[in-house]
Amino acid sequence: MLAKFFSYFIPINVVKKNSSISSTLEVTWNNGELVLDSKNTNYSYGSLQRILRKGLKYIGYDRIRKFENVLILGVAGGSVIKTLVDEIKFKGKITGVEIDKEVVDIANKYFRLNEIKNLEIIIDDAFEFVLKTKDKYDLIIIDIFQDTKMPNFLFEDFFINRVNFLLNTEGFILFNTMVISQKDRIRNLDYKKKFDGNYSLRMYPKVEEHNELFTIKKLN
Ligand SMILES: C[S@@+](CC[C@H](N)C(=O)[O-])C[C@H]1O[C@@H](n2cnc3c(N)ncnc32)[C@H](O)[C@@H]1O
Repeated sequence: MLAKFFSYFIPINVVKKNSSISSTLEVTWNNGELVLDSKNTNYSYGSLQRILRKGLKYIGYDRIRKFENVLILGVAGGSVIKTLVDEIKFKGKITGVEIDKEVVDIANKYFRLNEIKNLEIIIDDAFEFVLKTKDKYDLIIIDIFQDTKMPNFLFEDFFINRVNFLLNTEGFILFNTMVISQKDRIRNLDYKKKFDGNYSLRMYPKVEEHNELFTIKKLN
């Protein structure tokens, strides 16, 4: 395709929409790849996909293939879902929760998420969803951003405890965070302290310039 070819030299915008959550949403051909960006950051594919792929590698592809139920909080264009389905060949159930309907429309139209059979997308606030769900999960991926901002609830006890409750024993949380200021660094150190001996937590700093990843395993 011509746009893909030229995008190796200069990014080519395909669509731009306003969003109350992310300010703007833009689909762009960039270096031969179709990516989704918010006003100030990459949301899906591009560096975001590389970051979460690293997190999944730390957990282990073989282990993930044996999981039954995966929950993804923050779907955007669905690049981590593509990694799970196309690269890892994950065959279990995937539930994706996304607050912004506009994002889901883009994901279906430009990234064909609606063609993935083992995926269910729920349009809801992740905070509300974790309160309501009756299911338990082997892997919970938390990747929630409103442009570059991470909502406070992600770091509060109420949400953390609820997510921990939804996780099966031997299951994993993969949490993607952005660290720009000293305040963010302290926030992440405080987060780390919230997990006791029932969990095995690892922190992966500077996964890609400003991103810090956590993997958290539930031991018992
Ligand atoms: C970085 S993107 C997610 C990328 C995605 N995980 C992927 O692999 O391509 C962050 C997403 O979080 C969504 N989001 C922000 N606040 C949310 C909330 N409270 N509940 C659910 N989704 C939210 C945004 O609309 C955006 O689509």
